[in-house]
Amino acid sequence: MAFEFIDDELAQRESLDLLRSHVCIEEYQQQFVKVSGQRFLNFSSNDYLGLAQAEIETDTNIVGSGGSPLVTGYSAQHRALCEHIAQNIEREAVLLFNSGFAANSSVCQALMNQEQQLILSDKLIHASFIDGAMASKAQYKRFKHNDSAQLTQLLQKYRSSYRDVLVASESVFSMDGDQAPVSELVRQCQEHDAWLMLDDAHGLGVLGKNGWGIVEQGGFEQEHIPILIGTFGKAVGTGGAFVAGSNALIEYLSNFARHYIYSTAFSPLHAATTLAHLNAMSEQNWRREKLNDNIQHFRALATQLGIPLTASVSAIQPIMVGEPKRALMLSEQLMEKGFWVKAIRHPTVPKNSDRLRITLTSMHEKEDITGLLQILAEAMSR
Ligand SMILES: Cc1ncc(COP(=O)(O)O)c(C=O)c1O
Repeated sequence: MAFEFIDDELAQRESLDLLRSHVCIEEYQQQFVKVSGQRFLNFSSNDYLGLAQAEIETDTNIVGSGGSPLVTGYSAQHRALCEHIAQNIEREAVLLFNSGFAANSSVCQALMNQEQQLILSDKLIHASFIDGAMASKAQYKRFKHNDSAQLTQLLQKYRSSYRDVLVASESVFSMDGDQAPVSELVRQCQEHDAWLMLDDAHGLGVLGKNGWGIVEQGGFEQEHIPILIGTFGKAVGTGGAFVAGSNALIEYLSNFARHYIYSTAFSPLHAATTLAHLNAMSEQNWRREKLNDNIQHFRALATQLGIPLTASVSAIQPIMVGEPKRALMLSEQLMEKGFWVKAIRHPTVPKNSDRLRITLTSMHEKEDITGLLQILAEAMSR
């Protein structure tokens, strides 16, 4: 029978404890979410600075852009947003995308569309980059997570056989929370005449004195990171994404990035809201300070309670469990006690690295974290 695979594959996922389903969040209330009428402390959100719920005024209320950006979808608000970002991270130009997924996939596909090109990425890079790389005409190879030595070997072995080489990684890894050795990646790219593309989805808002991400934290200039991706759906608290780089890169993408050209732009209201959120992100340093205090409290208490931590010092604190059934069980036990912590399973993460992905935000209070860790320690000891 045609399309029988749909039922077969769903049944197989279910039998392996890997089936996903939607849960409707009925209300967001600061650090809480309401689901099926019950209030939970939310430890699964990427709204690291609590900006998604910030009350912010904008200069427009136009809720639709009415077109793709090269037709009628690029408004004064979009232009102001691009200029604001470019100025703050000292890049020549910025291009807006509807999502980080579109930005990563599209840049990769548009730029790496010839056979004499090579893409080298970290093995744990986000699915959106992998999809772009697989759909491109370039050769694609991955190096072990954060393994600069293996990257060096690949560059030494293959650099001379390809005209252009793109090296790609994330500043803060989405599921592991650890940071890439960015200075080392920059150095290697410069030595081997390769371009570095860095996805700062989980660094923007969190890293750097004023939240301008990995660029501010490390003082990286455009020549160090020729392609920088930032997303607005995490710490900035809205949605959408940007690519930042040289005028030539942005003009090229405006002409060849299909996700950009053939997609309705987000609304002027969204652009203006995002710009206001970026101002709050950089001006309200207390949000980052509170987040950092919460991260320290989490790590100190978890260590005291014997909960195994990873090396992550970011807002993303994974608790490695190793198999999906146990990850689901721990998540359910936490939910029974009022803590919203989702199990993250294969294929989102590699096999046998199923985990609880705990995320901390500036909305959490110390006692929220203490409560979570006490219940978690108890559940893990059973
Ligand atoms: C590292 C990374 N890059 C890109 C994306 C995609 O961004 P968006 O949610 O805006 O599509 C995500 C989020 O899922 C991410 O974690």
